[in-house]
Amino acid sequence: SVSSVHRRSPSGDGLMALVSGNTFLLLLGSLGLVALYQLLKRMRQKAYIQDAVVVITGASSGLGKECARVFHAAGARLVLCGRDKGRLQELSKELAAVSDSGRKTYPPSTVTFDLSDTGTVASAAEEILKCHGRVDILINNAGISYRGTILDTTIDVDKEVMDINYFGPVALTKAILPSMVQNRSGHILVISSVQGKIAIPFRSAYAASKHATQAFFDCLRAEVEQYGIEVSVFSPGYIKTNLSLNAVTGDGSTYGVMDKNTAEGWDPQDVARAILGAVGSKKRDVMLAGLLPTLAVYLRTLCPSVFFRIMASRARKERKAKNN
Ligand SMILES: NC(=O)c1ccc[n+]([C@@H]2O[C@H](COP(=O)([O-])OP(=O)(O)OC[C@H]3O[C@@H](n4cnc5c(N)ncnc54)[C@H](OP(=O)(O)O)[C@@H]3O)[C@@H](O)[C@H]2O)c1
Repeated sequence: SVSSVHRRSPSGDGLMALVSGNTFLLLLGSLGLVALYQLLKRMRQKAYIQDAVVVITGASSGLGKECARVFHAAGARLVLCGRDKGRLQELSKELAAVSDSGRKTYPPSTVTFDLSDTGTVASAAEEILKCHGRVDILINNAGISYRGTILDTTIDVDKEVMDINYFGPVALTKAILPSMVQNRSGHILVISSVQGKIAIPFRSAYAASKHATQAFFDCLRAEVEQYGIEVSVFSPGYIKTNLSLNAVTGDGSTYGVMDKNTAEGWDPQDVARAILGAVGSKKRDVMLAGLLPTLAVYLRTLCPSVFFRIMASRARKERKAKNN
């Protein structure tokens, strides 16, 4: 009868309890799945780095040094590169003395060479390959910054910045690439910059070198996918390192100033951890930046005339501040 049907069907409150009970179970199940997915992802990332031969250029200071620490702790067999043999050996000794009881770690090797001398990069690559017979992950990190006006900058300075930031990593990548193609595996990461996506005044040589870097490695990614080789471009905003101190100026002298933006930038250790994560999860293009630079990148694409106006006003303000 109708009344017995009414008696058997749940009341309004009961229905609510049933629905919220099911929602709770669904939520719990989803959280469990997310946790499991994260765990599996972390395990896969760890396995990707453990025992891998990882080459880091510019390992003697700043971001490269922190990458060395983070990848060493993750169980990579490191080859540390830079121009300063003493600093590389010091870091190698420091890392060799650190061992994580939970993970197998390896004492790093070092290879000394100047990236701006593209003629010697091929022999440096041979030396790098001899360390472990292969390269699994190449981190093109070394770089130099620049400060100056285009009017007052000699073409030699433009070439110097381009040699270190662009032709050096390109030459090293080309020298290591055939062995990766032969192995049908490998990962090449380059540290670019937000300035590889947008150009800001008084950084012409630097921004140009990073834009070229982005373009080259984007082309490379498409060309080597068929060989199972991964390519990542990592573009951070300001990082608290000596980059501005070591920057070159328009006449070729060293800038020697710790810029406010750099001093207030990201902690290099946090950036190195983000790089480890990006490599482990094979991310292809990562920008590590705050809201304003991120908006600026979108503005440059979607509304270029507004972006150009903002940059011109920034140039006027910077020039005025310098003249005062
Ligand atoms: N700091 C930032 O705000 C920031 C922001 C975005 C992107 N980045 C990028 O991050 C990367 C690392 O820079 P950093 O901030 O760590 O600066 P850093 O402390 O000045 O380190 C630069 C490294 O590059 C190496 N290097 C410079 N010229 C070289 C050459 N001719 N040949 C070989 N190695 C050379 C240096 O090694 P030696 O002097 O020992 O040879 C040093 O280890 C650079 O590509 C930079 O463009 C930095």
